Amino acid sequence: MPNGANVVKLGIVGCGRVSVNHHLPALKKLPGVEVIALADTDKGCLNWAGDRFHINKRYTDYRFLLDSPSLDAVAVCVPPKSHVEIALGALAAGKHLFIEKPLALNLEECDRLIERARNAKTKAMVGFNLRHHRLVRQARQIIQQGTLGDIESIHTSLTSALRLRLKVPEWRNQRSSGGGALFEVAVHHFDLWRYLSGCEAEEVFAMSRADNWDDETVTLTARMTNGVPIASNFSERTSESNELEIYGRKGRLRLSLYDFYGFEFYPATITPGGIRPRIVKAYKMLKDFPEAFSVMLNGGDFLMTYHSEWQYFIDSIQNDTKIECTLEEGRRALQIALAAIESSSLGKPVRVDHSSP
Ligand SMILES: NC(=O)c1ccc[n+]([C@@H]2O[C@H](COP(=O)([O-])OP(=O)(O)OC[C@H]3O[C@@H](n4cnc5c(N)ncnc54)[C@H](O)[C@@H]3O)[C@@H](O)[C@H]2O)c1
Repeated sequence: MPNGANVVKLGIVGCGRVSVNHHLPALKKLPGVEVIALADTDKGCLNWAGDRFHINKRYTDYRFLLDSPSLDAVAVCVPPKSHVEIALGALAAGKHLFIEKPLALNLEECDRLIERARNAKTKAMVGFNLRHHRLVRQARQIIQQGTLGDIESIHTSLTSALRLRLKVPEWRNQRSSGGGALFEVAVHHFDLWRYLSGCEAEEVFAMSRADNWDDETVTLTARMTNGVPIASNFSERTSESNELEIYGRKGRLRLSLYDFYGFEFYPATITPGGIRPRIVKAYKMLKDFPEAFSVMLNGGDFLMTYHSEWQYFIDSIQNDTKIECTLEEGRRALQIALAAIESSSLGKPVRVDHSSP
């Protein structure tokens, strides 16, 4: 680290929703990192975040933040259209890079960034926070152990009431600026498709509603390279859900990522409504209640994903360990989003580009 100190000094570019609601509160609780600088083109957002989190170095031009020799790492938390420009600047300045999803808006931009990162000595990680969810980690482990048997199919949904509750920034309305459910929401689950199944998406077929803005609500089906079919649903105009169901030959796993008790395994040999499974479930709820209460006091499993992803990133900088969620992984999720966009325009299934950078 440029500082030679143990505490990672971080600068954040972009002081909007994700920084103020998720990253800054998570970072405040972590001992190994200190946020010392912020940048945002909007002075109001900059000062609001700076005052709330007591951060004095503030810049309306991110390039001045990158010039700061005391910074070890930079988080790029601006709308997707500007991700790559700022990330390239951070790498050129010798900083470790944390970059929000979607990595970029096209593969050419991804490739430029990946090539630059390959030649850098610093770490680079994409902010797919759901990979750090306690239940996702457990699910991955039991899938890898073979508890579910061969996977038959996967169903997922990631929906919210965001558009019903709030006025969203204009960039979220157009694909061209990274908006709409495919770029903004679905990439999280595209990443989980890969992370949980252990293989790539081969083909997607997307149906997208777009009466008032791009990709208001999207339903899509896909086939993975191991033949597993997937069906997913994404929207910001209904109630909240963040769910995955993995159907295996030995049983079904149901994950509800906003629920402490959202990990349910139904062995293929057992009828879920039977008396024994109900008693086992009730017993487990009582037994796990102290842990559930403690997780709740920390904001719940979902909010804790931001804490865990930062802990992971900081650890990898301090101990020089390998990053799991690399820029290449961000590119893979984007490849699925781009195929889905093409499919919804053509009205037919589209093969996912498997080119490498
Ligand atoms: N991982 C997650 O859970 C999650 C959640 C929400 C958003 N995101 C991602 O985070 C990124 C930001 O999303 P958001 O919801 O915070 O957006 P936002 O619109 O609320 O905030 C973005 C901020 O960046 C600032 N900005 C724009 N261009 C800039 C530039 N060139 N230099 C400096 N500041 C600039 C804007 O003024 C604004 O304050 C997006 O890529 C989004 O997809 C991730």
